[in-house]
Amino acid sequence: MRILVADDEAKLARLIAEMLELAGHHVDCVTGGKEALARIGAESYDLVLTDLRMPDVDGLVVLTEARKRSPAPEVIVMTAHGTAETAVQAMKAGAIDYLLKPFSIDEVRLRVNRIASERSEQMKNARLVDQLIPSLVADSGAMRSVLAAARQVALTDTTVLILGETGTGKSQLARYIHYASKQSLGPFVEVHCSALPESLLESELFGFEKGAFTGADQRKTGLLLAAEGGTLFLDEIGEVSLSTQVKLLRFLQDRTFVALGSSRAEKVNARVVAATNRDLDDAVKKGVFREDLYYRLNVFPLRVPPLRDRMDDILPLAARYLKERGVPPSKLSPEARQRIATHAWPGNVRELENALERALILAADDPIELSHFSLPTDRAEGPATGSLKSELIDRLLTSEAAFDLDGFERDLLYAAIARTGGNKAAAARLLGITRRRLYSRIKSLNERLTDDGSEE
Ligand SMILES: Nc1ncnc2c1ncn2[C@@H]1O[C@H](COP(=O)(O)OP(=O)(O)OP(=O)(O)O)[C@@H](O)[C@H]1O
Ligand SMILES: [Mg+2]
Repeated sequence: MRILVADDEAKLARLIAEMLELAGHHVDCVTGGKEALARIGAESYDLVLTDLRMPDVDGLVVLTEARKRSPAPEVIVMTAHGTAETAVQAMKAGAIDYLLKPFSIDEVRLRVNRIASERSEQMKNARLVDQLIPSLVADSGAMRSVLAAARQVALTDTTVLILGETGTGKSQLARYIHYASKQSLGPFVEVHCSALPESLLESELFGFEKGAFTGADQRKTGLLLAAEGGTLFLDEIGEVSLSTQVKLLRFLQDRTFVALGSSRAEKVNARVVAATNRDLDDAVKKGVFREDLYYRLNVFPLRVPPLRDRMDDILPLAARYLKERGVPPSKLSPEARQRIATHAWPGNVRELENALERALILAADDPIELSHFSLPTDRAEGPATGSLKSELIDRLLTSEAAFDLDGFERDLLYAAIARTGGNKAAAARLLGITRRRLYSRIKSLNERLTDDGSEE
């Protein structure tokens, strides 16, 4: 492993480094937090051993910075007797282990070796993923845990069901799982189940023998067989017809299928990943999706959250999109940044990307401004609040139509809820009130408005 040792006690640091070198690791040794940060920024380590108390930069900072790297090294913190509490704090911040000083050098060796064996397989895999596919943006806690689960399930043969609204990144995640899996050297075969009419989908999936139907003038191998040794990605599985579902069920049960017009069952060894933006529970209840197939698919569900539930991802996604087009993130004006970061993006990542593409064209050589996005106008904010607010009040009170405060307030609340795609917490944030307050206002406004109505 590549290991960094950081301790302001130079002697101790060197001792540990020498021992680890002897054990076959590549070790860098620094005697301060600042130096440690510089090394972590410049190199890629598998493990960082850091003292917690160092005069220049605290070990906790070294720990947090190290864990932000991708791939992140494991961190063991070393701390003097009597500060076990800080050690616990360090574990919470992502350290894998801690050593209370004074410790024996054997103890260090033991812990490092254990980590080396536990992690080597995992790290090999993570690195492979990073090399093969562009890593997914996952700055939000929600998305990070989805990716962590995806990485874990990738190492198994388990069927994965990816759920999520349109444009959230389900197809991307399927690809990610493939490249993180042991089937990654095999093919990744993608089937858009909704793009084809039933009979065509079946002949694509299962293949056919010569003469199986009119026009089948030669034998054709299906996509299932093409996925041998790799991953079969059944996209939009929720749209498959009931009769095709029966055949897929059989395939999921024993990995066998029969090509159209053939009498011989064939076997395929492939991991299955399926995705849908449909509520399959509901589809089962409505009788358009087979329950037994649902259970076969729903072994390991991964739910990709909509963008409005992981707003921390918006700006990193935008920056990444611009970077891929050779555009620095600073091209986005501060107002535009602020606005897109709080927009609900009902079409999720895809809508964000489309809006950026359009804005890039409109902006040409100038910065991308708010006006380059056709988003609903923003609520009043910042220094402009005063004037906008008084202008609004002015207009409302001088208008010809009678003003209805309760009705106005209710419309405003509903508009906020609609704007955030029904996410009450986000709506409350937009309105600058708590979610509880939002609920109670809606309730009392509804009561008041219906009371008024019944009196008339
Ligand atoms: N986490 C992410 N990091 C970077 N790019 C992403 C991420 N998630 C989605 N994208 C991008 O957003 C776009 C939409 O993603 P994708 O096609 O995977 O969505 P989807 O959920 O499969 O949509 P649909 O339901 O319409 O099939 C793609 O261009 C994809 O590259
Ligand atoms: Mg998709």
